[in-house]
Amino acid sequence: MDLSTTYMGIPLNNPIIVGSSGLTSSVEKIKTLEEYGAGAVVLKSIFEEEIRYEYADFMQKVKKQFSPPQYFDYDGQRNPIEYYDYLIREENLKKYIQLIEDCKNSVSIPVMASINCFFHSVEWLSFATHLERAGADALELNMFFPPTDFKHSRETKETLYFQIADEVTRAVSIPVALKISPYFTDLGPMIQRLSKTEIKGLVLFNRFYSPDIDINALEVKPSFVFSTPSDLAISLRWIAVMAEKVTCDLAASTGVHDGEAVIKQLLAGADAVQVVSSLYKNGVEYLKEMLSDLEKWVARKKYRQLSDFKGKMSQDKSTDPAMYERAQFMRYFGGKKNVIL
Ligand SMILES: Cc1cc2nc3c(=O)[nH]c(=O)nc-3n(C[C@H](O)[C@H](O)[C@H](O)COP(=O)(O)O)c2cc1C
Repeated sequence: MDLSTTYMGIPLNNPIIVGSSGLTSSVEKIKTLEEYGAGAVVLKSIFEEEIRYEYADFMQKVKKQFSPPQYFDYDGQRNPIEYYDYLIREENLKKYIQLIEDCKNSVSIPVMASINCFFHSVEWLSFATHLERAGADALELNMFFPPTDFKHSRETKETLYFQIADEVTRAVSIPVALKISPYFTDLGPMIQRLSKTEIKGLVLFNRFYSPDIDINALEVKPSFVFSTPSDLAISLRWIAVMAEKVTCDLAASTGVHDGEAVIKQLLAGADAVQVVSSLYKNGVEYLKEMLSDLEKWVARKKYRQLSDFKGKMSQDKSTDPAMYERAQFMRYFGGKKNVIL
């Protein structure tokens, strides 16, 4: 059965990509994912935030061990903060580069590097070029400028997406994807505008760590880390709506928990489908079952290749495009006489 495809111009044996997470944080794990049939992997992101935490920790230790003047005697130019910052960044980057190099020596599936882009980061360009040199097949920029930030305007935040996309795509020659959230004022046009930059792919969507409240301890606590199958709806709708309206590839992410969800996303128009939570819950060997379900369905429908059905159910190709619009909810209940709402 031929499930081969391309994503951002990169050939894949099949469209299932293991998304950026702890599942892709070591060569051993990635070798196992390849054995179970992953079409590609996105490495765990290199986090600016993580670097900052590590930095705070490091500063505490350093303060205890050294008197600052001795330790700061580096080159007379750098200020102390920059110096420590530089050391920590070097260490993280070295480990990440080693991971890419080791992966490239051990697996034959595409390995995409991932950078988490936060508002205050200024390091993307140099990170990106290092990662390309290490052999990454592509780069995924996980971009999120929090809508809870009241200091910067919507325009400022939106402009940053374009600036970063522009700068990174000029700095590297490997394909660049943006992994975005659905939190935009004008989501459809924003996705379309982003697709018209030099990026080659958009990942719809990232899922975020959400808070919950413990009503007994009266504390804020983290809510569920993993998605559930019902989380599929948002990305499925937007893949379907945008499939024919963008000029780059689309990868579906969030809520893809089984082979059926993979098929739905491909029918909606996804070029590739990312999975994470399902593999945490079911074990990475579940990838085999997802692939087998996809193969069986393709055979049952008598399709010969992915392109025979990819996008067949996108909004523009669907016989009922309005089903992807908001009115769908009203229509659903509107037709049921006895529903009390
Ligand atoms: C434990 C865990 C770690 C994750 N780490 C990252 C990460 O480092 N970078 C990133 O872009 N996304 C990360 N994600 C988000 C996933 O890549 C994915 O976008 C999200 O979980 C939605 O997909 P899912 O429904 O298949 O889990 C992580 C998710 C989980 C559950």
